[in-house]
Amino acid sequence: MKPTALVAGNWKMNGLAASQAELEALGTYLSDGAPADCDVLICPPFTLVAAFAANAADGIAVGAQDCHTNTSGAHTGDISAEMLKDAGATYVIVGHSERRADHGEGDSLVKAKAEAVHGQGMKAIVCVGETEAERDAGNTLDIVLGQLAGSLPDAATAANTVVAYEPVWAIGTGRTPTVEDVAEVHTAIRSALVARFGEAGNSFSILYGGSVKPSNADELMNAANVNGALVGGASLKASDFNGIIDAYRK
Ligand code: PGA
Repeated sequence: MKPTALVAGNWKMNGLAASQAELEALGTYLSDGAPADCDVLICPPFTLVAAFAANAADGIAVGAQDCHTNTSGAHTGDISAEMLKDAGATYVIVGHSERRADHGEGDSLVKAKAEAVHGQGMKAIVCVGETEAERDAGNTLDIVLGQLAGSLPDAATAANTVVAYEPVWAIGTGRTPTVEDVAEVHTAIRSALVARFGEAGNSFSILYGGSVKPSNADELMNAANVNGALVGGASLKASDFNGIIDAYRK
């Protein structure tokens, strides 16, 4: 099975009730022209998940940006995968580099979170990526493939898991790797998925993330083994996000 393309917006810690206008605008863009063979996802902050899930137009899935490993209990301030499912989410991002850096999340925790997401019948978007120092030291593939091995549950399938390659130094910086560098990492991820999961490894979607915008989406999305984008800043405005989705409109 061919990987399904996915363009996913990660709103991070941005968005208030009034931001629903952007969700509505995105719905209008999609009803005017749906992309071919491409899913569209918005991951707002927890506070907006339920409202977005209730109001999103057809063709827009809603997800969250993190979850706890447990289903419920004494974990002040945390949100479980079950709660997110109950709120209408169908995807949860786990292991984003900002969670890894700001909250000290390591691969085994990320894996447990992905398992919690799977346990609720949702899809986990598992993020991996090297820092600038790791790239400069020539360790990109070691780091990325190590994170992938440690963060993906054995029960991962193309139906319950999406991989996102996000070089840390490209996130929110306006800098991107070359198309050749993106293709090299994505192809290495594809090979690792096939080595671990057999032929089924060819079906996983592998997203690129890090400073994707309308002007570079087309070339990045056409790189080898790139099956979509995880978009931060440029997902906040429906017009920009729609310009990225354009990469799948022809
Ligand atoms: P960016 O963020 O598009 O703002 O670089 C991407 C991400 O962190 O998912």
